[in-house]
Parts: sequence; C-alpha cells; structure tokens
Amino acid sequence: MSEKQSINFLRGVPAEEALSRLIPMASEGYEKVIRRYGTDVLQYGHFTGFKPLRDLIGSFHRVDPERVIVGNGGLEVISLFFKSLPRESNIIVEEASYDRVLLDAKCYGHHLIGVKLTPEGIDLNQFRDLANKNAVAAFYGIPFHQNPTGINYTEENRKDVERICREYGIPCVWDICYQALRYDGKTNGSIEVSEWGPILTSSFTKTISPGTKCGYMIVPNHYVGHLSGIIANTRINPNLPTQAFIADFIESRRYDDFVKYLCNLYRPRMEALNTALNSQFPGAFPVAISGGFFAPLTLENISSDKEATFIESAKQAGVGVAAAWDALPPNCKEEKRKKGLFIRLTFPAYEPDKIEWGILSLKETADRLA
Ligand SMILES: Cc1ncc(COP(=O)(O)O)c(C=O)c1O
Repeated sequence: MSEKQSINFLRGVPAEEALSRLIPMASEGYEKVIRRYGTDVLQYGHFTGFKPLRDLIGSFHRVDPERVIVGNGGLEVISLFFKSLPRESNIIVEEASYDRVLLDAKCYGHHLIGVKLTPEGIDLNQFRDLANKNAVAAFYGIPFHQNPTGINYTEENRKDVERICREYGIPCVWDICYQALRYDGKTNGSIEVSEWGPILTSSFTKTISPGTKCGYMIVPNHYVGHLSGIIANTRINPNLPTQAFIADFIESRRYDDFVKYLCNLYRPRMEALNTALNSQFPGAFPVAISGGFFAPLTLENISSDKEATFIESAKQAGVGVAAAWDALPPNCKEEKRKKGLFIRLTFPAYEPDKIEWGILSLKETADRLA
C-alpha cells in the first residue's frame, strides 16, 4: 500500500540529509574544541561571544572584532538590540518581514511601521517620507532572499536605503542570514560596513544547523558598551562550546564546503518551486526565487471568511500551510488582507517532486473553494 503524500510548507527547516551529513563533523568538532579550549569554553566568560569566532567574523566583514557580538542565534542578538532601544521606539520594517522579529519587537513596546517592498528592494520615496514624518529608532530589513517574499534587493536600492538612514540618523539593520544561500549560480555581493554602519546581523542556523543556535551582530564602536551591558544583564555568556565549534568549522574550511553543498542540494528544489508556482499560480508571487528558504503566495480567491476552511482542506489533503498575518506590520495588514490569503512557503527540506505535488494540491484546494 502506498503511503499518503504530505508536505509541510510551514516551518523553514534545513533538509534532514544536510543535518545528517553534519553529524560526524559536529561530533568531531565539538570534541576537538572542548579538548583544545578546555575550561575556557566550559566556564563563564566571553560575554559578547567567543573571542576567536569574533575575530574570524570581524576579518570576514573587515571590521574591528570589538564591534562583533556573537550570541545564541540571530533572533537573540536582534532581540538584545531591540531591548537596547528606548521602550516604545518606532521601527521601520518591510511590509512583510520575519514574523518572530516583529513579535519580539512588540514585546519591548516598539511600534512597527511597514514600508512597501518592490522587486528591487523597498519603496524609497515612501521610506524617505516615513523617515521625515516619524522619530525612527531603527530600520530592520532582510536584503538577501527576503523572508518571506524571497526578494533580493538590488545593490543600488540597498545603498540608497543606507544613504537615507544616514541622512536621518536612523540605525540601518541588515539581517543577512540568507546572503550565502543563493542557488542560481550567482553570488550575492558583500555589504561594506563603515564606522557609522550599517549594523549587520546574521545567523548560522540555516548555513550549519538550527540546533547549534549561533548568530551575530556588528554594531558601531560607540554602541558596543551599551549593548554589552544589556547582554550581561540578560544572559551573561552565550553557548561557548558551540561558538568554538563554529570557529573551528570555519577555520578548517569545512564551513565553505558545507555551504556549497547546501546550495547544490537546494538548487533543484528552488527550481521545482519556481516552476510549480509559475504554472499553478502565475502572477501570484512577485519574483522568481533565487535562494534562501521562502516564497510568498497570495491566494486571491481565498477571502477571510474562507481562510480557515482552506487551511483545513489543505491539511486534509496532506499540505501544511498557515496564514502569514504575523509577518505584517499593523499599517500593512488591512490592505494585504483585501488581496486574499497570504501564506509563506518553504522548500529546502523537500525533494522537487514533493514540492510540485504540494503546490498542485494547494491549487486544487483553492479551486474547489472558489
Ligand atoms: C530573517 C531571519 N533572521 C533570523 C532568523 C533566526 O535565526 P536564529 O535561528 O539564528 O535565531 C531567521 C530564521 O528563520 C530568519 O529567517
């Protein structure tokens, strides 16, 4: 008897086979660094991150390693940054963004203001207007393979955003955690960091493993003291054995090889997703996906009243999806809701044929409810 097909488009997890491939390297790596660094990684210390890893990240981004804060994941360092801002600050974000970052910002009472996305990046006129009319404490954007829209900013748009931020004295935070994960054979350019900024934040969750939980942030020199104080009062030191393992993984060049392996593994999955979306939902997603973990989909014929039924019917058919309303800042929700059900699809964990089957099932489910 054949097993019932199913796919869960909800959680952006790395492929199981990639994590399995990591097992011998991680086992060996953790043992090696605990023997090498001993109590230095088992004791309290290195509050702003394991020094050898900060040095490596500093030289990769060509900045003073004192500016590098390494923590327990991208989300943690972003959260610490939000915590470091005055409560109830205004933060400009993209019209659709990483939902957990938005939820976290709200925990500190911050107000989120959404700026429109275009296939090139953000709408610069609207951004300037928002910067003009509001006292803004930070802009947070995801310039490479944006979560959830998959948009890759052009270099021109990115630099214009930085220029406007600088003009208005707004800290510009670029979350670059998908920068290395490009699968169309091209490479994303690097972002130059000066003393002013931009602030960079990234994570090894998608390039190594979510379980190891490590991410970092590069802030201006003058901000290090303030942020370090917040860190020391929040969690003292981060997970040091993990950071020592990652430093060794990078130094031994296994990291670069692993990222290359991931890009090759995910390429056919991305191509299957693009092909399936183009044929089943032409025009319903803004750009061809070129990397990262996500693609957005707006189902025009699924209005609010049909939302729950659609999600349940998809589940019965074996396809896990959810409304992505948490990914939208308050000022963008209403307009987006009028356009139909907005969902986020993830693809790297699934074989191409499963992805094609899943998109087709979504189309059939949507058609049945039309
Ligand atoms: C844009 C973005 N930033 C940060 C993260 C979180 O990374 P971490 O697991 O290291 O907290 C993710 C994870 O999905 C993400 O999509």
